[in-house]
Amino acid sequence: MAYMALYRAWRPQRFEEVVGQEQIVTALRNAVRENRLTHAYLFAGPRGTGKTSIAKIVAKAVNCEQLQDGEPCNQCSCCQDINNGNFMDVIEIDAASNRGIDEIRDLREKVRVLPAQGKKKVYIIDEVHMLTMEAFNALLKTIEEPPESVIFILATTEPQKIPATIRSRCQGYFFRRLTIEEMEGRLKQVAEANNITVEPDALDIIARRANGGLRDALSTLDQVYSYRGNHITKADVLDVLGLVDDVFLAQLIDAAWQGDTGQVLQMLAAALQQGKEAQQITREAALYLRDLLFYHTTGQAAGLAVVTEASIGKLQQQKKAGTTRILQALRILAETTDKLRFSEGQRFVLEMAFLEVTALFAKEEPAVPVAGKKEGAKGSPARAKGPREPAEARDAMWSRILAGVKERKIPTHALLCQGKLLGIKDDTVYIGYRKGYKFHKEKMEEKPNRDILTEVLQEVVGRSLEVQFIFLDDDQYNDIVVKKAIELFGEDIVEIKE
Ligand SMILES: Nc1ncnc2c1ncn2[C@@H]1O[C@H](COP(=O)(O)OP(=O)(O)OP(=O)(O)O)[C@@H](O)[C@H]1O
Ligand SMILES: [Mg+2]
Ligand SMILES: [Zn+2]
Repeated sequence: MAYMALYRAWRPQRFEEVVGQEQIVTALRNAVRENRLTHAYLFAGPRGTGKTSIAKIVAKAVNCEQLQDGEPCNQCSCCQDINNGNFMDVIEIDAASNRGIDEIRDLREKVRVLPAQGKKKVYIIDEVHMLTMEAFNALLKTIEEPPESVIFILATTEPQKIPATIRSRCQGYFFRRLTIEEMEGRLKQVAEANNITVEPDALDIIARRANGGLRDALSTLDQVYSYRGNHITKADVLDVLGLVDDVFLAQLIDAAWQGDTGQVLQMLAAALQQGKEAQQITREAALYLRDLLFYHTTGQAAGLAVVTEASIGKLQQQKKAGTTRILQALRILAETTDKLRFSEGQRFVLEMAFLEVTALFAKEEPAVPVAGKKEGAKGSPARAKGPREPAEARDAMWSRILAGVKERKIPTHALLCQGKLLGIKDDTVYIGYRKGYKFHKEKMEEKPNRDILTEVLQEVVGRSLEVQFIFLDDDQYNDIVVKKAIELFGEDIVEIKE
């Protein structure tokens, strides 16, 4: 038997087999069950998310001879004929092809002819936005006075291009992109059934790069499988898709961040050596920076484009990056990606772009007010790693404390979040308030609020602690916080026991 592409072999045949699109599936299945389907539907949504598949399930369900709780049986001759594309009363029209236009033209006459084989005629018109005005008009007339035994299912990726006159006569269903989890779930299922083993990171990349479309995800799996056989690694996927490893990108950005030009150039040379294209590198690095921004503004990992489990730790460390400079870097990389399309001196252009980014990152320091022993001594424009960590750990701990308090009592959180965690010494936690926040400080000192905080501290730090609230001078608040902290605790600033 000829090899059938995975995405075709895995077309859902019953409502139950559809991944995601729950509301749509439930609504249609109920309508089938209760025999109250309407005569015209519009399925709109991104590529490869199930529009045609569901249209065919509906077509089977209305014609099936042994409907089972709203599901087509896939056994009777009608179901089988529809699955094989041999059913006279299910008419698929691809509006993107010329034939499609012709078919719409004589649709007005043919539509009145009763079903030949089944109970209902189902017209599935794919890419319906491609119809000409003339064809739309023909379609409109038909949809306006639909014969009893006809159902239209119009499918499109671009519903805004469909005339309002048509749209308003259809029941609209909006398909969503599938989530990474949904895609990974299906990919795993398909891989297992075909005896393909796929490394988790490889799976993750396939799912992320498919942008919510399951067809693309399955095609990629298919493609990698046919190149590399039935054990698929992350490197295989990167190669076949022409992508750059996210761990490499994280290190590259790190090197730029540290102002380490030598390292940056070396890494670029190595990547070129391995056969990566200059344009790929700039494009992927831009996507990485986009992920960095996305992650730190939304706090969510679900929408990341290139970052996988393998580099998410780095993303967290690069937290304090500073939006402005990342945006500038993004612009440089995007422009370079463009330039590289026409450029001869590829390598030089690539290097220039990254040197520019490195200089940009090393330039002005974001206002992260941390004094540390090593940093001053080194005098490096980029921040050294070591001394930054205590302050970062402190910030992270403070966020956790605030979140814990917020969960228990929002008014207490409102009082507390005007303060700042200075640090922990012996068994006392020090929290600073600006002079202007006397009210907040005093309220926090009252027992009910203090108790909530103590409870949260117990949870976050793992032992019971006293709390001291301190006033800080108002101007240059951030600096004062640090000075005060150093005064109290020395340079280690905060002691953390996980
Ligand atoms: N929701 C889904 N559940 C299960 N499989 C799906 C789903 N969406 C897409 N697929 C897979 O992708 C293939 C193509 O899906 P389908 O033809 O239904 O997409 P579509 O939304 O019509 O896309 P297009 O807009 O490109 O026509 C299916 O055969 C199936 O393998
Ligand atoms: Mg389709
Ligand atoms: Zn059937």
